[in-house]
Amino acid sequence: MARNSTKFVCQNCGAQHVRWSGRCDNCGEWNTLVEEDAASAPVSGSQRKARPGRPVALSALSGEEDQPPRVSSQVLELDRVCGGGLVRGSALLVGGDPGIGKSTLLLQAAAGLANAGRKVVYVSGEEAIDQVRLRATRLGLARSNVGLAAETNVENILATLETGTPADLVVIDSIQTLWTDSIESAPGTVSQVRASAQMLIRHAKRSGSAVVLVGHVTKDGQIAGPRVVEHMVDAVLYFEGDGAHQFRLLRAVKNRFGPTDEIGVFEMSDMGLREVPNPSALFLGERDAWAPGAAVFAGMEGTRPILVEIQALVAPSTLATPRRAVVGWDSNRLSMILAVLDAHCGLKLGAQDVYLNVAGGLRIVEPAADLAVAAALVSSMARSALQPDAVYFGEISLSGAIRPVGHEATRLKEAAKLGFTQAIAPGAGTGGQDGEGLRTRRVDSLSTLVAAIAANAPKREGEDT
Ligand code: TYD
Ligand code: MG
Repeated sequence: MARNSTKFVCQNCGAQHVRWSGRCDNCGEWNTLVEEDAASAPVSGSQRKARPGRPVALSALSGEEDQPPRVSSQVLELDRVCGGGLVRGSALLVGGDPGIGKSTLLLQAAAGLANAGRKVVYVSGEEAIDQVRLRATRLGLARSNVGLAAETNVENILATLETGTPADLVVIDSIQTLWTDSIESAPGTVSQVRASAQMLIRHAKRSGSAVVLVGHVTKDGQIAGPRVVEHMVDAVLYFEGDGAHQFRLLRAVKNRFGPTDEIGVFEMSDMGLREVPNPSALFLGERDAWAPGAAVFAGMEGTRPILVEIQALVAPSTLATPRRAVVGWDSNRLSMILAVLDAHCGLKLGAQDVYLNVAGGLRIVEPAADLAVAAALVSSMARSALQPDAVYFGEISLSGAIRPVGHEATRLKEAAKLGFTQAIAPGAGTGGQDGEGLRTRRVDSLSTLVAAIAANAPKREGEDT
């Protein structure tokens, strides 16, 4: 009799353990080990009789290469993130928190493709046919010719997909609900998710359909992580946003057929997701330009410029350890900038609470935001509003110097397009006027910027900034 007929699989990283423990040794997550039947594991070499291999033909790196055949999803922001449309014969994972709008987005794409005369199959494992129909009616898509099925068994799904001509797009919502007969474990476990995904990906390659798998990702990793699927599929998109804001970002984190730094911006409305072709206008929409502590950052997301307001509040603290709270930016980076302001510009922030917020709920990762953050901090401390028609970008080094960043021309162009007339940018010299009616002011050290802001500050008695 075979021993070890069960094993414990981490639902976060997929690592297998012989014994249960509270914490996965591989990824360090807690409470993620779930018992699964060892028979459901792929058969390992020793258990199966090896068959003699067959040599395959080797080819050269150069040769006739084709651009991947793409089909437009009719949702331009989705196409952009995929690198120009869905690729035939590829598998795409769309992940995101529950309720963020994955089903809505994919139903809209499915209907769009169907309206363009393509064959589309939408398999819902989570919602009943009536629920999907209700949503389609609400989105005004009920007349689209989408083949709809509510099914969770992979064998049944594959049998359905293999009848008739292959579909151009297959949407599986969601991968966590699927189960296959070939495996004993419960739906949603790593083995089931992995086996089901494998079968559907094989179908994509064989039939030439673009297969989109939806996967829920929860913060605490309770539901089987579609992370195990991430390296099986050709592209992984994450749909993100937060409950308090209407806009949603679609971000590529892996793409075998295109760039991974593109984002798509959507707005959730009562008529479903609306594409936002000009995100800067959205993020700057409710700006109070004359408030102290606000600076507009000319940022980049992939190849696309986005202007966003950075808000800072510096206030005397009553606490022994003053608060440092950051939303939408890296808190280590904030500490660094505070240290540089202290060491090189003589600003004493040690006894102040500092709050930093990126407006609209956007998350910025670019170091180019340093200069805008510093300007917002100094402006709040000096209680002096910055020029409302200026944008800021530049990276701050530990020495207090301001370093150049990439894509300067694109940032300036976007700022000019939105009616800004000044840009505070890295570099030496006096700057100048560029063709778009934007004046560029060059700063090469943080102390120059601080001095310029302080010079505009209203004078108060008994206060030194
Ligand atoms: P859904 O697509 O079901 O999310 P997911 O598939 O990622 O779990 O979207 C659910 C949310 O979207 C729900 O909270 C309601 C909201 N919503 C709208 O605001 N407007 C709409 O037109 C639709 C269809 C949904
Ligand atoms: Mg859903």
